[in-house]
Amino acid sequence: MIKFKHVYKIYEKDIKALDDISFEIKSGELVFITGPSGAGKTTILNLLYREDTPAMGTILVNNTDISHLKGSKIAKYRRSIGFVFQDFKLLFDRCVFDNIALPLEIIKANTQYIKNAVMEYIKKIGLLGKEKLNPWHLSGGEKQKVAIARALITSPSIILADEPTGNLDDFSAWEIITMLTDANKKGATVVIATHNKEIISRVGGKVIKLDKGRIV
Ligand SMILES: Nc1ncnc2c1ncn2[C@@H]1O[C@H](COP(=O)(O)OP(=O)(O)OP(=O)(O)O)[C@@H](O)[C@H]1O
Ligand SMILES: [Mg+2]
Repeated sequence: MIKFKHVYKIYEKDIKALDDISFEIKSGELVFITGPSGAGKTTILNLLYREDTPAMGTILVNNTDISHLKGSKIAKYRRSIGFVFQDFKLLFDRCVFDNIALPLEIIKANTQYIKNAVMEYIKKIGLLGKEKLNPWHLSGGEKQKVAIARALITSPSIILADEPTGNLDDFSAWEIITMLTDANKKGATVVIATHNKEIISRVGGKVIKLDKGRIV
């Protein structure tokens, strides 16, 4: 369960990125966060990832106030989350395979298991034969798919996806959304920030609509 209670995020010069935000997301729910550019979508996901803490208010995840987590507890908490970043955040000093394998290496999964699981995802995202390439050489859409595979590879209980279809054509966008909805069907709580109204209306689910840091 994810609960925002009267959350404010204020950047310097009094920019209120979030202005008294309260909502609840139940475990296993699929939720879209929508709203125009600058509305605060990425800010909400960053707070949930404990990348940042609110100026005021409480963020509970499974009854833990995540703002109070420190050091190794933050790292442990993040292991329960798959994050698809708006700018991918792929690592360009390693190949596609190693990018997707990273979360499994962090949890010290067995080498053979990693090999099988990563190759299965590489097949699923249509990049078979490109696993040894540096992601630098991939198209924008292919990079996005690698970012999605990396977020899903450990079957996390919470998946946060920031504009995951931003760079994709309709067909690829739908493939990505299907990967996220499949993870949701298997029980993950999935939160997707997107401008794409067509996807929201096709998928359904709960919608949190933001404008200028407020829920509208
Ligand atoms: N580090 C920062 N310093 C100052 N202001 C920031 C910072 N990060 C975000 N903001 C401001 O907070 C507001 C919300 O930004 P946010 O990135 O959450 O919007 P968004 O809804 O994700 O937009 P987009 O659809 O363009 O991704 C914006 O006005 C932005 O300029
Ligand atoms: Mg954003």
